[in-house]
Amino acid sequence: MSRFLLGLVMLGCNVAVEDVHAFNEAITRLWNDKPGERCSGRVEMRQVHQWGTVCQRGWDLEDAAVVCRELNCGFVLDVPNGARFGRPSVDVLWRDVKCSGDEFTLDLCERSLNEGMCTHDEDAGVECTVKFVSLSRGVSTPLVTQRADPRQMTVDLTLSDLEISHQGSYGCLYRIHSKMGNSPSGNSPHSNLINITVLEIHTPQIWYNTSPEARPGWVIRGQSFNVTCFTQPQYPGGSFQLRLIRPNGTVRHSLPALTPSVTFTFSNAQSSTEGYYCCLYKVQTGERTFISRESQPLPISIQEVDPVMSPVVISLVVSGLTFVVAACAILIVAKVYCKKVRKPTELERESRTCVDNTYIALTIQ
Ligand SMILES: *[C@@H]1O[C@H](CO)[C@@H](O)[C@H](O)[C@H]1NC(C)=O
Ligand SMILES: *[C@@H]1O[C@H](CO)[C@@H](O)[C@H](O)[C@H]1NC(C)=O
Repeated sequence: MSRFLLGLVMLGCNVAVEDVHAFNEAITRLWNDKPGERCSGRVEMRQVHQWGTVCQRGWDLEDAAVVCRELNCGFVLDVPNGARFGRPSVDVLWRDVKCSGDEFTLDLCERSLNEGMCTHDEDAGVECTVKFVSLSRGVSTPLVTQRADPRQMTVDLTLSDLEISHQGSYGCLYRIHSKMGNSPSGNSPHSNLINITVLEIHTPQIWYNTSPEARPGWVIRGQSFNVTCFTQPQYPGGSFQLRLIRPNGTVRHSLPALTPSVTFTFSNAQSSTEGYYCCLYKVQTGERTFISRESQPLPISIQEVDPVMSPVVISLVVSGLTFVVAACAILIVAKVYCKKVRKPTELERESRTCVDNTYIALTIQ
C-alpha cells in the first residue's frame, strides 16, 4: 500500500517538473517568414507541446499590447490580419481572447478553445512598435533608414558607394510608431552632427630622369638622378613617400606634397641607390591617416662610369694595338726591301745630278 502511494508522489513530481519546463520555454510567438524579424507576425500560442493560432474574433489592441510586452517588443503599432503572414501548418487553437492589457503574458488572459469555429482566414496578427533609425546629411531628408528593435541601443547605418558629393555634416534620429493613445509616438530630437570628409585617393605615378648617356633603366655611377612622384587631387597635409626596395632592406624618403608632382633628387648614384623605387601618397587629417596604394615599382640599376676598364674593351684595345704594331712592322720590312731593290738607281741619280751640275756649270760659263 505504502509502495503504491510513493509511486503516485513520484508521478506528481514528474508532472510538476515537466510544467516548469513548459513555463520556461516560449508560449507565445509572432510568426513571419522574415529572418530576424520577431516583433511582428501571426500570433501563435503553445498548448503543452502543440502550437496553434489565435482567432481574430474579439482580438483587440489590449490583447496585442500584452503580446508586445511579453515579447519585449515595446508597444503596439497595428493589429493586422494574421493571414497576411502566410499559411500556417498548425491549427487554430483559441478564440475570444480577453486581456485587460496589464497581463505579463498572453497565457494569463481569459480565452476559449476554438473548437472549429474560426478558420485561418481569421488569424490574429500583431505588429509591435519598432524604431526607425535614420541618417541624414544636415537636417534634410534621410539618406538611410533602418528598422530596429525597440530595445536596441546602437544601430549601424551604412553609406555605400561613397562619392565626393557625400561630404558634409551628418546626424541621426529615431522615430517610433504606435497606435495606442498613451504610448510614445513620433520623432526623437536630432543628434549632434558629425563632419564627414570624403577623400579620393589615386595610386601615384612614378618616373625618373638622369643624363641622356645612360641606358634606359640605368644611371651612371656618380652622376645625379631624380625620381618624381605624381598624383591628383591634392589635399592639405598630403605627402609623398618614396620607398627604395633593396635586397638588404628598404629605405624610405618623404617630402610634403605641395605640388601634384614632387621630385626626389639623388646627387650621387651608387650601389646603395640601386633597386626598386615605389611612390605612395599619404594624407593626415585629424587623427586619421589615409594612404594610397603603391605605384608600380620602378627599377633603377647603376651603370659603370669607366667603360675602358671592362674586359671586352681591354681585349679590343689589345687586339687593336697588335694590329697597328703588325702593320708598322710590315711597312718597315717592305721599305727596307724596296730600298735594296732600288740600289742600282743610285748611279742613275748621281749621274743625273752630275748632268744637272754640268748644266749649271755650263750656264755659269
Ligand atoms: C563641421 O564643419 C563645420 C563647417 O563646415 C564647422 O563649423 C563645425 O565646427 C564642424 N564640426 C565638427 C564637429 O568638427
Ligand atoms: C634634378 O632636379 C634638379 C632640380 O630639381 C635639377 O637641377 C637637375 O638638373 C635634375 N637632374 C636631372 C638629371 O634631371
